[in-house]
Amino acid sequence: AAENGLDGWLRYAPLPCTTQCHSKVPANIVVLNATETSPIYVAGTELQTGLKSICGSHAELIHGQCKASSSVVVGTIEQYRKTCGNLSEIPELEEDGFWLSTKGNDVQILGSNDRGALYGAFEYLSMLAQGNFSEVAYATSPSAPIRWVNQWDNLDGSIERGYGGPSIFFKNGTVVEDLTRVKQYGRLLASIRINAVVVNNVNANASLLSSENLKGLGRIADAFRPYGVKVGISLNFASPETFGGLDTYDPLNSSVIKWWSNITDQLYQNVPDMAGYLVKGDSEGQPGPEIYNRTLAQGANLFAKALQPYGGIVMFRAFVYNQLNESDWKADRAKAAVDFFKPLDGEFEENVVIQIKYGPIDFQVREPTSPLFANLLNTNTAIELEVTQEYLGQQSHLVYLPPLWKTVLDFDLRVDHKPSLVRDIVTGKRFNRKLGGSAAVVNVGTNTTWLGSYLSMSNLYAYGRLAWNPADDPEAMVQDWIQLTFGLDPTVLKTLTRMSMESWPAYLNYSGNLGIQTLTDILYTHYGPNPATQDNNGWGQWTRADHTTVGMDRTISNGTGYSGQYPEEIAAMYENIDTTPDNLCLWFHHVNWTHHLHSGKTVIQHFYDAHYSGADTAQSFFTQWESLKGKVDEERYNHVRHRLDYQTGHSIVWRDAISNFYYNMTSIPDDSKRVSHY
Ligand code: GCU
Repeated sequence: AAENGLDGWLRYAPLPCTTQCHSKVPANIVVLNATETSPIYVAGTELQTGLKSICGSHAELIHGQCKASSSVVVGTIEQYRKTCGNLSEIPELEEDGFWLSTKGNDVQILGSNDRGALYGAFEYLSMLAQGNFSEVAYATSPSAPIRWVNQWDNLDGSIERGYGGPSIFFKNGTVVEDLTRVKQYGRLLASIRINAVVVNNVNANASLLSSENLKGLGRIADAFRPYGVKVGISLNFASPETFGGLDTYDPLNSSVIKWWSNITDQLYQNVPDMAGYLVKGDSEGQPGPEIYNRTLAQGANLFAKALQPYGGIVMFRAFVYNQLNESDWKADRAKAAVDFFKPLDGEFEENVVIQIKYGPIDFQVREPTSPLFANLLNTNTAIELEVTQEYLGQQSHLVYLPPLWKTVLDFDLRVDHKPSLVRDIVTGKRFNRKLGGSAAVVNVGTNTTWLGSYLSMSNLYAYGRLAWNPADDPEAMVQDWIQLTFGLDPTVLKTLTRMSMESWPAYLNYSGNLGIQTLTDILYTHYGPNPATQDNNGWGQWTRADHTTVGMDRTISNGTGYSGQYPEEIAAMYENIDTTPDNLCLWFHHVNWTHHLHSGKTVIQHFYDAHYSGADTAQSFFTQWESLKGKVDEERYNHVRHRLDYQTGHSIVWRDAISNFYYNMTSIPDDSKRVSHY
């Protein structure tokens, strides 16, 4: 059963035998000029395995020479022109892009580079696996060069906010011996066109830089290289002192500068194509440039300069904030990123990218778009998403995340009164930046499902698709994933599509609606209902709920002034409660529980109703899934059924905990008389 999980969406389940299958499948696979470690070589073997498994046909692998008929030719455009002749019709491609043309059983898969060719091979196999034999001819290029994932793996093998078992990379302080799972991860990532993995936790341990571990990183990079996936690492800012034995880590100190450039040299000796560094500085207890009175830009540029000779990139995180005092009405953690980074716009080196979480707080079930995207006009930016469901049910709840991510990617910030979609900002288009893109915290582990749950894999799949094309459609993406993962049964497709599309709205309803954030335990586990933990502490994820009122006043006129961090049109919309959408009402405004929303309901009644309706929907997932018995193999059927059974119960726990908490706080009865005092 394990292979069900390890292959993820690359199962290549046999199609029911059709004549199409036989007449349209090429008899040969022509691999242009590939060495064994090249992604093109992998493309060749992947095509051979895929064709055999999907269509039951054996295709001959031919290396380095062209063969015209009944062939799938895979290589770079340049190699094709040299080996096979002219190709006039192909449009310009960006780096990693590819051309795919299928005419009967003649197929061309041509990349702008090796990586692109491999991506094209996966695309073709994805079509076949879904029974799609149509004739196509198109070119596709990535929206942005940075399509990374982050793993929060610690060297001892644990994973911060990971729910799929221990690390596939590290154990006992070093890199694991057997890198089979790393290769399998590389294969999955290549198929969704991810081009780099940061392998260790942002809360980084400097001992990653030991000479033994540098060799280990070299082995990880070797394992990933055939898949076109590069390795990046998280750095601990204080390493020169804590690991290097210097008495300072001041980013402007010449011995510190030398130390980092020496470490960088050593890294590139072991990993010649290293992607770069990820840095969390001056945040949540992590060291940074602040104690030396240096700016975050000076901190980021230290690494940028060390990487420049090698073409590496620094992903510098915008997740920087301080603890605050709730008795200060104007204190607001949501403002921190703009406060810290806006003054530094334009001061970062060209190979620095500011990695910005989608919302201003921390991966909540709903947040407004981070205003920082609108405030860095002369700096590269990337969006940070989270595939691992930290606050969002930790893989024990079904939550298909792209609809949430799209609320941010598709948001128009109206910078200078011009269309300014977040997806066009992070891809560099809006402000003409060369670098940009996205990163997602994924946290797969050694569990054979990777993430700890079969259904959660739709989020990883769709993340890759959105990194390539942030305009892609959540429903279309999940449908491809379902067919690739569970086969072509139309009932399975319909049911699982519906469940997936209903899942985020349901979780939103029972865990944190109207923009109040996720009412989970925020002090430690980030799991389960615990609304009391939001307030009376320094974390700044406050609700300011009391007997009569609730919500954060983030207006300029009377509150924290956060709304003023947005461009004029957006600021005006959020400043005024009449134009603030209900779903962010409590994010921006402090109101009476009896305040009437645009929907006509009071805030408290909306709470009660949303919690009941969210839990009802979650319960329906269980029955919907049960209707698929016999249509999904038993192992996966039972695994998912067990999780949904749990979710059914836990959604009721959520519903009752939150409804009762606020009923007890407000004494305002539920119109439908469902909620009562304990
Ligand atoms: C969240 C998460 C932490 C993580 C942090 C970050 O707060 O709970 O575990 O370190 O984000 O993104 O740096």
